[in-house]
Amino acid sequence: MQVFELNLPKRIIFGRDSIRSIGAEAKKLGSKVLLVTGKKALASSGVLDRVRKYLENAGLGVVLYNKVTPEPDLSAVDEGIALACREGCDLIIGLGGGSSLDVAKAVAGLAKNGGKTIEYQEGREIRPELTLPFIAVPTTAGTGAEAACNAVITDPAQKVKKSIRSPALMAVLAVVDPELTATAPPEVTASAGMDALAHLVEGYCSIKANPVTDSLALEGISLVGKSLREAYRNGGNMEAREDMSLAALFGGIVLANAGLGVAHGLAASLGPIAHAPHGLVCAVLLPYIMEFNLEAAPQKLSMIAASLTGGDVHRFGRGDLQPYLPESFKLSGRSLLAETMNNALTGTSDQEPGNAPVEVKNLLSNLGISHHLSDLGVTPADISGIVKGVSSSAKYNPRQASPEELARLLEEAI
Ligand SMILES: [Fe+2]
Repeated sequence: MQVFELNLPKRIIFGRDSIRSIGAEAKKLGSKVLLVTGKKALASSGVLDRVRKYLENAGLGVVLYNKVTPEPDLSAVDEGIALACREGCDLIIGLGGGSSLDVAKAVAGLAKNGGKTIEYQEGREIRPELTLPFIAVPTTAGTGAEAACNAVITDPAQKVKKSIRSPALMAVLAVVDPELTATAPPEVTASAGMDALAHLVEGYCSIKANPVTDSLALEGISLVGKSLREAYRNGGNMEAREDMSLAALFGGIVLANAGLGVAHGLAASLGPIAHAPHGLVCAVLLPYIMEFNLEAAPQKLSMIAASLTGGDVHRFGRGDLQPYLPESFKLSGRSLLAETMNNALTGTSDQEPGNAPVEVKNLLSNLGISHHLSDLGVTPADISGIVKGVSSSAKYNPRQASPEELARLLEEAI
């Protein structure tokens, strides 16, 4: 087994109505908050007022930055940094979908680090001692941005999405309240949920996967299989919403620690061309990439097929994991974590690996999502540009894809 490490938010508070704790929790971390959110949805649903009230009642000053648009670009981060500095904010809270969380994350990471935002996309190091604390409050179940240490920001000049990536960007606290997702409309629920599934599937098949991410990925895939259709059809079903918030959180932990694959690699350059939400782009690509991966990861795809359909998954360990565990685990003997890791190491299911992409296509049909990129406005003329802009996520794919193979995959998906 390879050496692995885990990078997680310092704390995660998960559960219905957990948003009530935001005032008391924020008070421990700062006195003046920059509250980063989108333009409209949360204001009209009353969520924004509620969060603001919790913060103000706890004695915090609140500066609202509510200009984040979907697929935000560099200017959104720069504007947030300028406002945070001007107002002397010492704590950044991101409230919303992945876009708001990523902008808030970048503002918290860069406001005191100085320099231009684009330099950090190109690899400039973020000094952790110069970051502001960041609290993530997701209101959609999908991106997992609450648990990931990257912020995806579009570079408008190059028309490409790039990550600013650093362990220093990790949230100090993630407050994941499934009730905040209850007002998300069905199409948002569907595309966000498919983004979560893409993180779980790609992270599970990644060459960087480890026993912990494997456990979380399989559990998350089961939750998506069980509850995404219901959350889409009946947004008021809080059990389904809870399952999807948990699946998205697991997906965030998985992507932050195991990496992703070709679907996300292509989505980075496809997103700005398709003018479609990231989750939708990943949703359409995912089954094609799973088919491409069949020969490289048949056992894992068989496990995915079983998990998605609620079928039997027979997990079994591969001998004693104890020699591989860190000291702290050895001291506590066969801890629950050790047991989970052992059970997740490998497994079997009765499902054919090829059923996994078929099942994802069934799910897309049930969610009203097309199977073709052409329905997102992508044409064969776009292929070479998309292939050129493929992001580094693709390098963790279990089967390496040449530019010609990427082009062929895109042709099929169009
Ligand atoms: Fe994603």
